[in-house]
Amino acid sequence: MSDALNYLIQARPETMGHYFKFLKETGKHLDPKTRNLISVITKVHSQTDRGFRQYLGRALREGCTPMEIIDALVMAFPALCLAKIVWSTEIILDMGIPEFSPELINAQPQWRQVVAVAEVADGEVKRMETATRTVFVYREAETYKVYDSHCPHQVTNIPHLALEGKTLTCPKHHWKFDITTGACIEKGKHPLKGFDTKVEDGVLYAYW
Ligand code: FES
Repeated sequence: MSDALNYLIQARPETMGHYFKFLKETGKHLDPKTRNLISVITKVHSQTDRGFRQYLGRALREGCTPMEIIDALVMAFPALCLAKIVWSTEIILDMGIPEFSPELINAQPQWRQVVAVAEVADGEVKRMETATRTVFVYREAETYKVYDSHCPHQVTNIPHLALEGKTLTCPKHHWKFDITTGACIEKGKHPLKGFDTKVEDGVLYAYW
């Protein structure tokens, strides 16, 4: 939520409480995907950069696919016009969301090579660049965890410097994650996006 909205909630809690109750009521007969797609479009219509990034992240987290989001944008053309669709697309590109990349947007999920297991020591965390996305890899004995490096809050690409021991801190709003489980342990409530893994012939693969 923006600082301005947080300020208004503190200054006028009852008034703003009615506003948020109203928002909650408005979508209660819609399935979550539809609700998320409409929310995304409202942010494009009002050209609210921060809100658009936030709602886009939530839509992806709650199961909307990039193609569904693009469909919603294009369907809303009569209300948005090309300029706002281009505005939102520029933000999507700026966010560097792997699922929107040309390599992944039309691809079926598959096993993808991540790293030779010999390169990750027991208890070590590594940030790896693969052909289609950046990931954090954590090894505990013969168990491997692979997480997308993008924050589940507003899709910030979390750098390796954000790692202290087994805790990863997103530099943008300081959500903290336990790299051994992917769980968010401070500030936020959504976990890192994790992938299924397997090891074959000494190579770690993850499924996306
Ligand atoms: S983008 Fe907000 S905490 Fe990561």
